[in-house]
Amino acid sequence: MQILDGKALAAKIRKKAADDVASLKNKGITPGLAVVLVGDDPASHTYVKMKEKACEETGIYSIVHKMPIDISEAKILETIEMMNQNPNIDGILIQLPLPAHIDTQKVLNTVSPEKDVDGFHPFNVGNLVLDIDSFVPCTPLGVMKLLEEYDIHPKGMDACVVGASNIVGKPMMHLLLNKFATVDICHIYTKDLKTHTSRADLLIVGVGKQNLITKDMVKEGAIVIDIGINKTDEGKITGDVDFENVAPKCSYITPVPGGVGPMTIAMLLVNTINAARKR
Ligand code: GUN
Repeated sequence: MQILDGKALAAKIRKKAADDVASLKNKGITPGLAVVLVGDDPASHTYVKMKEKACEETGIYSIVHKMPIDISEAKILETIEMMNQNPNIDGILIQLPLPAHIDTQKVLNTVSPEKDVDGFHPFNVGNLVLDIDSFVPCTPLGVMKLLEEYDIHPKGMDACVVGASNIVGKPMMHLLLNKFATVDICHIYTKDLKTHTSRADLLIVGVGKQNLITKDMVKEGAIVIDIGINKTDEGKITGDVDFENVAPKCSYITPVPGGVGPMTIAMLLVNTINAARKR
C-alpha cells in the first residue's frame, strides 16, 4: 500500500506557481483573485483564510469581499459585475454555500466565464462535458493531478464516484470519463452502495460522512481517494473512509488530512495564474 501524498505534491505545485507568478510580474502582470464570502459559516471562513494565505505566499493579489448573511442578491450580483470589469482581477471565486435566500446558480452564472477559476459557470461545465480545455473545479482537478503524479492512468479502469455534487462528484465523473474510465456515480438514492464500491479499481469518495466506506466495501488492491472532510467528536479531522482498516487492502490511498485537501488550494492558484496568462 502506498500513500498518495497530496501535501507534498501541493507544495511542489505551489513552488512552481510562485515562480510562474514571478515571471508574469516581470511582464507587468500581477495575477489577482477576488473572493466573495457571505455570512459567518466558520468552515467557509477557514477555507477562505487558507486561500488568502496561499495567494499571499505565491505572490497573487487577493481581495475578499465579506458580506453579511442578510445581504441582498442584487448587491452580490453588483459586486460580481464590478469584479468582472476590474482589469486587475483575473479570477472570481464565490465561496459556497450561499445563504438560502440567494439563488446560487444565478450568482454563479454572473461570474464571467473567463474569470471563473472554480469552473462552476455553465459555460465551463459544458466545456468539461465536451472535453474542451477550460476551467475545471479545483478539487476534482487536484485528484486528477495526484493520480497523474503517481503514474495512475484511469483508462479502462472501473471507477466509482460516491457523491454527486456539482462541486466534486459530477465534475470528477466527467474528468474520469474523459480519460476513458468506466464510471459509476453513486448518491443518497443509490440502492446498494457496496455493490458499486466493491467493483471499483478506483474508488473516489466525497460525501462528508465519517466511516461511510468500510473495509468490506473495497476491492483488494483498489486505489482509494478520500475527498471527505469531517470533524470527529474529539475535534480531529477525518475523511469518509475508515482509513485504518481500508488502507491495508489498497494499492494506493489518500490520507485525510494531507491528501486531496491541499491539492484543492494548489489548483486554485494554478487556475488563477492560467486566467492571468490569458489577459
Ligand atoms: N465550498 C466548498 N468547497 C468549495 C469549493 O471548492 N469552492 C467554493 N467556491 N466553495 C466551496
